[in-house]
Amino acid sequence: MATIRKAVFPVAGLGTRFLPATKASPKEMMPVVDKPLIQYAADEAVAAGIDQLVFITGRSKRSIEDHFDKAYELEAELKEAGKDKLLEIVRNVLPAPASCIYVRQAEALGLGHAVLCAKPVIGNEPFVVLLADDLIRSSTKGVVEQMTEVHARYGCSVLSVQEVPREETHKYGIVEVEKGRNGELRVISIVEKPAPADAPSNLAVVGRYLLTPRIFDKLEQTREGAGGEIQLTDGIYDLLQDEHVIAHPFEGKRYDCGSKLGYLEATVEFGLAHPELGERFSAYLRAFRE
Ligand code: G1P
Repeated sequence: MATIRKAVFPVAGLGTRFLPATKASPKEMMPVVDKPLIQYAADEAVAAGIDQLVFITGRSKRSIEDHFDKAYELEAELKEAGKDKLLEIVRNVLPAPASCIYVRQAEALGLGHAVLCAKPVIGNEPFVVLLADDLIRSSTKGVVEQMTEVHARYGCSVLSVQEVPREETHKYGIVEVEKGRNGELRVISIVEKPAPADAPSNLAVVGRYLLTPRIFDKLEQTREGAGGEIQLTDGIYDLLQDEHVIAHPFEGKRYDCGSKLGYLEATVEFGLAHPELGERFSAYLRAFRE
């Protein structure tokens, strides 16, 4: 079984829901407490053994490249000031042996198109895709690691899924599944953002995908779908005609940081869980409510 070494991060979206915050800087650089969303996603991938991070970027995304680059001047200043702890944090933004590759998506034609842009650097290996605005906190292992274990067992593509309220199916890729011999959930069908009345279930795909390279052949044929975009969901639908795909109901809590409310929830809960701030922040919230 091929080990998974490469992760794709589509980061070319415009982030219009957070304007004006995202006018000049990418939504993936918005911090939750003290780390940008993109770093939570990169850390989750690296923790699963991934060592090549492939970013599909667009305009005004240079800060992502700078974030994962070596910051010589900053490191020198922190060193001179004897701020060793901060120096360590700055150096570990990209833990060794991971490396970054940037691919420019000239036009934002959709998530499927963004993933297809990674084809030349992925080649013929299975890989994962992480959408950084889906921030997931797991109590055991990260979702990417959970998915690589499912892949090691079944050898096919894996989609992370969770149940959502019926009235929210129009925000997600929705899967129809059946139980396999070992209790695994086999995807029979998938549809992008169906109206509640048309949704085959309330099982939604969240922003973690483990895909076999066959997806590229499918995406090359995929035409514009929902919202006039080339949808990854439609490529996966076509993949299902040739290969098995498994849905993995992951362990962890997901925060939809693509929405303001989800982002605020993440900020509060990560703040409460923060090793240095948690207690004081909790006391503040208690006092605030009184
Ligand atoms: C994308 C996908 C959708 C998936 C969702 C998860 O939608 O197209 O299938 O369920 O991510 O967050 P977006 O949120 O980019 O509109």
